[in-house]
Amino acid sequence: MKAGMKRTKYCGEVTKDDCGKKITLMGWVQKRRDLGGLVFLDLRDRAGICQIVFNPETDPETHALAQKVKAEYCIAIKGEVVLRPEDMRNKTMNTGDVEILAEEIHILNEAKTLPFVLSEEVEVGEALKLQYRYLDLRKPGLQNNIILRHKAAQCVRTYLNDAGFIEVETPMLTKSTPEGARDYLVPSRIFPGHFFALPQSPQLFKQLLMISGFDRYYQIVKCFRDEDLRADRQPEFTQIDLETSFLEMDEILDITEGLIVDMFKETIGVDMKQPFLRMSYDEAMSSYGADKPDIRFDMKLFDISDIVAKTDFGVFSSTVANGGVIKAMNVKAPAELSRKDLDSFGVFVATFGAKGVMWAKISDTGWQSSFAKFLSDDQKKKIEERLSIKPGDTMLVIAGKKEMVNASLGALRLHVAEKLSLIPENTYAPLWVIGFPLLEWNEDEKRFVAVHHPFTAPAIEDIDLLSTDPAKVKAQAYDMVINGQEVGGGSVRIHSRDLQKKVFDVIGLGEEEAKYKFGFLLEALEYGAPPHGGLAFGFDRLVALLTGAKSLRDVIAFPKTQKAACPLTQAPSSVDDAQLAELGIKVLDKYKN
Ligand code: AMO
Repeated sequence: MKAGMKRTKYCGEVTKDDCGKKITLMGWVQKRRDLGGLVFLDLRDRAGICQIVFNPETDPETHALAQKVKAEYCIAIKGEVVLRPEDMRNKTMNTGDVEILAEEIHILNEAKTLPFVLSEEVEVGEALKLQYRYLDLRKPGLQNNIILRHKAAQCVRTYLNDAGFIEVETPMLTKSTPEGARDYLVPSRIFPGHFFALPQSPQLFKQLLMISGFDRYYQIVKCFRDEDLRADRQPEFTQIDLETSFLEMDEILDITEGLIVDMFKETIGVDMKQPFLRMSYDEAMSSYGADKPDIRFDMKLFDISDIVAKTDFGVFSSTVANGGVIKAMNVKAPAELSRKDLDSFGVFVATFGAKGVMWAKISDTGWQSSFAKFLSDDQKKKIEERLSIKPGDTMLVIAGKKEMVNASLGALRLHVAEKLSLIPENTYAPLWVIGFPLLEWNEDEKRFVAVHHPFTAPAIEDIDLLSTDPAKVKAQAYDMVINGQEVGGGSVRIHSRDLQKKVFDVIGLGEEEAKYKFGFLLEALEYGAPPHGGLAFGFDRLVALLTGAKSLRDVIAFPKTQKAACPLTQAPSSVDDAQLAELGIKVLDKYKN
């Protein structure tokens, strides 16, 4: 670069106000066009793109150099900002009214031909894109996502700092944490045969910080979970983790909800109405078939078992006789719902264990359905009333065990809504789901396990039920759900050693095992632990919602693939024998390569 050359502006920020000024820009060549002697370059930096013109008549040397420039060369140019001719203005670009008449060009670095074209329109395989992530990240779409992520993180810090939270870092090399996924382990050289676990969350440390008296803690922190990946999961993801002392559940919900409201307002200008709806877990499961209901659209599930139990239709009567349920939802006046579509729904729900989907089309002339002949007029009327059915509507019905019916009809609800475009775009529907059960029965292990984690406090009025009917105990736990995605969850914690022990007893965690796993926390609870509770938001999921990204990979600078690998660095990779020997580790022959 020519000594003393200084950039004076970002490409994307050149406007009409700069006309007549001489400016210096530095960036990457998006595109070169040679038109009748003139050379046009689109120069890109993180702020956007600006058009540069090279004229062979006014500046032959500069023009000759510009002809050599190729896509993705890194260059500097100096020139005068002028208005484009009226018919050449581009309203779709921020800088579309102006162009720069180049007087100097400096090639700062050439670029090889890229392994793929940098365009939002061109489909490129995920593995290749991730291998060259630093190039893919040059694309404005991804770059804007990462910049918005930065803004969202600033909002978090500003909001929580103003609310008196203190940012504290907690260890990455630690002991297994109780979030229920598999751990990523790190072998210890100094203690061969022993392992650290990377934290699945800072759960135990943040509780310790409350016992230390920090009162309000937060951290934007990496968490690690070795679990089966989906579009909304990464093995290494980021939480906005926080904990408070002396607050009741409602107060924690108010504070944390305010954070989300601020974040949506500050980053994408969306106003969310407060307070967020609070829905019980039971209501979520019964009306939406899910503990993370998407309430952007209606189409609730209704139990019609009581109406149809005593019909001659075997599917209905035997389901109810066997303790199952029949649930239905009303697809309001679907314009396009063919026989083929209805059949395809049966295939869709099969993965959830449902044997099929029954349907009824209701018109002015009556019901068209395989089971209509088994229903009396009175039964049909009752169903129509319960589901607010009008002529033109279609009812979908699934029968079977309650859990299966909820899961399959709940999933079908989302599937149908997507298919029929019933979900309004650019709408954000937040809510809290509360009143989760504390424990659930694990059939494989034949014991109760904690639904959240074993430090979650039971509802005070349910404590006695721990000994008599553990399945009925509700937790002081809460999840925040936006557009059908769980974006955060937390709970009021147990702060008494005795109650903690009782919960461990119920989940069959013996004294020795509890001591081995969480002994330090249990002991800490005996030194004046304050009442405390908190929550963690999935930061990547929030940013995906803010940007409209379909996958978490689009909001993380260097994400992992579906197989939890990194094509860029080729991690995970094998290590040499000397390094393994130092750690006291021997790799099975079948895994050597
Ligand atoms: P939980 O396990 O519910 O709670 O995690 C909190 C939030 O983190 C997000 N999340 C994930 N995001 C991306 N990839 C993943 N693999 C992943 N797993 C979870 C979700 C989730 O709501 N310690 C408790 C919090 C507490 O009780 O305070 C915890 O970690 O959005």
